[in-house]
Amino acid sequence: MTRHFFRLLVAFTLFAQLPALAGETGHCQESFQKLTQLIGRNFFETRRDFEKYAELFPQSFLSRVSSLKEDGHWVDAGSGEGFALQDLFNQTVIDPEKVLKEAASSFWRARKIVIDPEPLRESAQQLNFREAADKPKITGVTYKMERPDPKIPNLAFKVGRFFEDIPLGEFAPADLITDLYGVISYSPRLDEVLRRYHALLKNSGRAYIFIGDYLSVPQHIGTRRIERIGEEGWYSPFVNSTVTRTDGSTVSLLDWIKSLPDFNAKVEKVVIQQSKKGNLVPGEIERSTLVLEKRTEQSNIPLLKLLESDDGKPPIRKFEEVP
Ligand SMILES: C[S@@+](CC[C@H](N)C(=O)[O-])C[C@H]1O[C@@H](n2cnc3c(N)ncnc32)[C@H](O)[C@@H]1O
Repeated sequence: MTRHFFRLLVAFTLFAQLPALAGETGHCQESFQKLTQLIGRNFFETRRDFEKYAELFPQSFLSRVSSLKEDGHWVDAGSGEGFALQDLFNQTVIDPEKVLKEAASSFWRARKIVIDPEPLRESAQQLNFREAADKPKITGVTYKMERPDPKIPNLAFKVGRFFEDIPLGEFAPADLITDLYGVISYSPRLDEVLRRYHALLKNSGRAYIFIGDYLSVPQHIGTRRIERIGEEGWYSPFVNSTVTRTDGSTVSLLDWIKSLPDFNAKVEKVVIQQSKKGNLVPGEIERSTLVLEKRTEQSNIPLLKLLESDDGKPPIRKFEEVP
């Protein structure tokens, strides 16, 4: 009871200080508050399980998780209810045959998720029926969690604080950071989040930031009057959000992060083939994740100020580099 009250007090104090913080750093106060309130309301998808993470992130994510030994550490930045993390402590973490069945197209599902079955089966073999003592350490960070902490040794949740405010000393160095429409998608202090990912990552570690979809082949209705279903290109808040550099040029948030010298960055994809159905002609989606590997010892990420944000889930934001 006292602990709960103390947590509420800390959260309230931090929340009360945010407008001052926004003012000090030149952020647009209204947009800053909009984002912190959006996070505080917690009206978004927070219950994805491990199979969903494995479906949305590229296959290298699963290989990485499965290769983590007892000295490994996975941080999920924006862990919601933490089901994906808790699943790692199940006897069967992932059922490869079920995953393959669900990825295949059927009469009901006119789409196919392209998965290489061999690495999937290998990862499942490494993850399933593993001794508890061999499991890696896992940390979930979430501003809100509606259910009680499942209290599993090796699984810790940091609840009730903004990631940007948690002293870095509270974290062990990370082999893997995941952000599935989590902290980086909502933060008004995005530069600080990236600095922290850089500081937390071990040299061999990787951060997986889910970006959204690239529609590489739009479907169209194959009748005489061709009607396209969607336009080729990105469907992603990271691509619609922008950063204006000190030289006056404006780039997408995705390109800005990719261009930071602090990381080696690449976009990895899951291909989704939209099969022919009725008179719908096949199409293709590339579900994309930005994978960051630390390149420099020190980070030199420019300061950003938030200029604008909408209240989308996730929001589209405009930032500007501070000279
Ligand atoms: C849309 S939910 C996604 C949850 C989870 N990744 C999933 O897929 O089910 C966003 C999560 O990020 C957390 N979050 C967003 N910004 C945050 C911040 N700055 N500090 C701490 N948690 C944050 C929210 O509290 C929530 O847990």
